[in-house]
Amino acid sequence: MRIDVVTLFPELVQSLAQDGVVGRAIVDERVQLATWNPRDDAKDKHRTVDDRPYGGGPGMVMKVEPLRTTIGRAKAAATEMAGSPVKVSLLSPQGQRLTQDAVRELAQRQRLLLVCGRYEGIDERLVAAEIDEEWSIGDYVLSGGELAAMVMVDAVVRLLPGVLGHEQSAEQDSFVDGLLDCPHYTRPEEFEGHAVPGVLLSGDHGAIERWRLKQALGRTWTRRRDLMEHKELTPDMKKLLDEYLNEYDSEQDEAE
Ligand code: ADE
Repeated sequence: MRIDVVTLFPELVQSLAQDGVVGRAIVDERVQLATWNPRDDAKDKHRTVDDRPYGGGPGMVMKVEPLRTTIGRAKAAATEMAGSPVKVSLLSPQGQRLTQDAVRELAQRQRLLLVCGRYEGIDERLVAAEIDEEWSIGDYVLSGGELAAMVMVDAVVRLLPGVLGHEQSAEQDSFVDGLLDCPHYTRPEEFEGHAVPGVLLSGDHGAIERWRLKQALGRTWTRRRDLMEHKELTPDMKKLLDEYLNEYDSEQDEAE
């Protein structure tokens, strides 16, 4: 996958290339990450990219130019690479919410072109002319789109074929089947009087699968019921959830 990021802070975005899953994917040439700085396209000696908002108010707005030129250059480079036009995505709190389903869709694409806004935003005429879609990573305001773009890149890259060591570890993540993840344990078997659930030591793979599904259902129900509103549970899932809730209630009683 080819990823182009338009940003005033290329070093910040390129820090993704240094470590971890994304860094490894770049070394292995599964991903190519390029950054484009609008300041490089500013014509004046101060390399101006922003200006005061019409109508007054705090903060600065990113001007149409030079941002438009930079997007044009990034687009041309990416298009040259893979033949067909690339979608231009703006990271902003006004965008559609980035969910695991959306991440899965983005991971199917050959290219991403991400534009990071700064200051109070970018001139709306630039959005109309150049932006194909807007993405938000949550209902809070960051100082700019860079961290949001980095979140998106990480979430997408780890789904690309061959990027994660164990093919299965992305399949079993939270949200993959619309549920939160089950709890995980490793050695020691007992820690400060708390033992690992016995079923995980049983070697009975069927029982382990059922326990994990039960935990995923129960955790989702107790922590994020909104995720379950549109989910059809099979009779077996309902039974597991009931079991979880009964056990959960009696644990709560014991705790009181
Ligand atoms: N830029 C500022 N806040 C943001 C958010 N929540 N998501 C995406 N981009 C942003």
